[in-house]
Amino acid sequence: MQKHIYNPNPEFSKNAAIPSMEAYWELQNRALEDYEGFWQGFADEKIDWLAPYDTVLDESDAPFYKWFTKGKLNVSNQCIDRHLSDKADKTAILFEGDRGEVEKISYLQLSQRVNKMANLLKNEFGIEKGDRVVLYMPMIPEAAYAMLACTRIGAVHSIVFGGFSSAALKDRIEDAQAKIVITADGAYRKGKPYLLKGVVDEALSRGGECVEAVLVVKRNNEEIEWVEGRDHNYNALITAQSDDCPFEPMDSEDPLFLLYTSGSTGKPKGVQHSTAGYILWAQMTTEWVFDVKEDDIFWCTADVGWITGHTYIVYGPLAAGTTTVMFEGVPTYPDAGRAWKMVQDHKITQFYTAPTAIRVLHKMGKDEPENYDLSSLKVLGTVGEPIDPTAWQWYYEKVGHSKCAIVDTWWQTETGGHIITPLPGATPIKPGCATFPLPGIMTEILSYEGVPKEADEPGLLCITKPWPSMLRNIWGDPERYKKAYFGDVSKEGRPVYFSGDGAVADKEGYITIVGRVDDVINVSGHRMGTAEIEAVVKEDDAVAEVAVVGCPHEIKGESIFIYIVLKEGHINKDIKNHINALLASEIGNIAKADHIIEVPGLPKTRSGKIMRRILRSIAKGEAITQDISTLEDPSIVKEIETTAREA
Ligand code: WT7
Repeated sequence: MQKHIYNPNPEFSKNAAIPSMEAYWELQNRALEDYEGFWQGFADEKIDWLAPYDTVLDESDAPFYKWFTKGKLNVSNQCIDRHLSDKADKTAILFEGDRGEVEKISYLQLSQRVNKMANLLKNEFGIEKGDRVVLYMPMIPEAAYAMLACTRIGAVHSIVFGGFSSAALKDRIEDAQAKIVITADGAYRKGKPYLLKGVVDEALSRGGECVEAVLVVKRNNEEIEWVEGRDHNYNALITAQSDDCPFEPMDSEDPLFLLYTSGSTGKPKGVQHSTAGYILWAQMTTEWVFDVKEDDIFWCTADVGWITGHTYIVYGPLAAGTTTVMFEGVPTYPDAGRAWKMVQDHKITQFYTAPTAIRVLHKMGKDEPENYDLSSLKVLGTVGEPIDPTAWQWYYEKVGHSKCAIVDTWWQTETGGHIITPLPGATPIKPGCATFPLPGIMTEILSYEGVPKEADEPGLLCITKPWPSMLRNIWGDPERYKKAYFGDVSKEGRPVYFSGDGAVADKEGYITIVGRVDDVINVSGHRMGTAEIEAVVKEDDAVAEVAVVGCPHEIKGESIFIYIVLKEGHINKDIKNHINALLASEIGNIAKADHIIEVPGLPKTRSGKIMRRILRSIAKGEAITQDISTLEDPSIVKEIETTAREA
């Protein structure tokens, strides 16, 4: 079917950073002809180097690639100090609280607060270059101050999303061997205070001996437990700190942060990002893909606990010197007009969110955007999962008034920044298509043997050349890094980065993301490993066997569907609630299943491998078309189907 094409708004293109497909191809051809020269040009133009680098790309220890080796820089300088000469009074962070209060933090104020926090970490807690700092924070400006304070002194932050449970937090603290945890008493959501600090207490009561101190930001002043000697009050300590803390010159390849994410096997892995390559691409993509201009107000609705929040709430927008919006609340409170009211009130120019949020807002208030003045909007963005045509159309017409490009950005925690996306001033858009790789990024759709797929033939989405903002390692596990990302696909004898996603390109080269081909599911744009969920379910004494699959969901994209086989003699008494409670406590509420069904057995091959494809089909309610004759017991399929239908 020929899809309708939406051309860029010519008025917008006139002043766009990349104003046409010709300009796109000129850049991309430059990268194809002289890859290192291409990146060198941007590194020299964009980064405030404290000492020059000697090599653009060092491939000698592939796949442990190094970029801009021996160069010195500091990310907090890149995001703050270097802007102070001309942007001291410009708003860096525009914070809106859940209850509607607004605080505008200028670049000068940001500098002062980050310097104070850096001094606090250094002087009171002895945090040094290379130390790991875990952040378990709500969406308040102090989260950004803490991130930037870490980068200022060369500490490595690891943010744990506030929705993760104490057990998940403990695992991440221990894996990173963090010296300090920065948290808050709590924050506000939907008009009510909620608590966060208790989760840290619980995590540390279960382990995390490496932690010497907990720094607590007071946000809602709810009553919390206090461990004398371990817990420290940020608000009381910060006032005495000097607002001058010289930044540490960091090596290009020094780790900037860790961010744990789920894979197809085992425990979550600590994705390790670098200093120079990451910040370069965070800034460049903010400038190219969102086309930020001097007076723009940029709002990314993600949480700082995910990579989207790292790159497009904090690092990208601040490195680009723009105003970034940070929102504590949820876009549906007090009503479905909240997000649109914020766009109107703050004259937001770029709005970046997840398809799940768009579907929720659409469902709750189809005509709600009409009640607000959304004329300030120039670029709309989506991320995290494929966007369906209904959501796309509504977003384009009702929110963007058919004049804003929608950038459907495909990327991952591991890629650091955007990889495949339309450019708002250049790319003719086909809805649902992530379109083309950005200039400098070399993607290919391959078979496992590394053979490029023909047009319209789905294959494995690979990135065939290293890029500056790629992950550098999995914290403490280089073997897993090699295996997880470079172990599946080789091209012409060289291992290439495989994303875990399937994709297809049409005859014009437009790339559509098909979704994960591994055992990772995507619930509301959150990545969950089925193996990780299965390991938790197995902790239930009554469970003999378990298989977890993703099931299409109208709002969430995918939901969690669990098949369990009970041990003999056990009865199914309240087991569903029990399993969901276990998932909530071991991982977090985001891991709760929509469906848990008890089946007499699982479909297995004679060698004992579970045929998940069959389970996925049954979860979807699809007829089984696969060949089931290779199963050890083909009759089990009928039985599972019947149970699923009844459930
Ligand atoms: C996975 C990465 C990157 C920030 C948010 C998620 C899926 C991401 C898209 C998109 C279709 C997408 C992929 C990818 N994904 N963006 N525009 N269209 N799918 O980061 O948790 O690392 O998850 O999200 O499956 O592999 P993440």
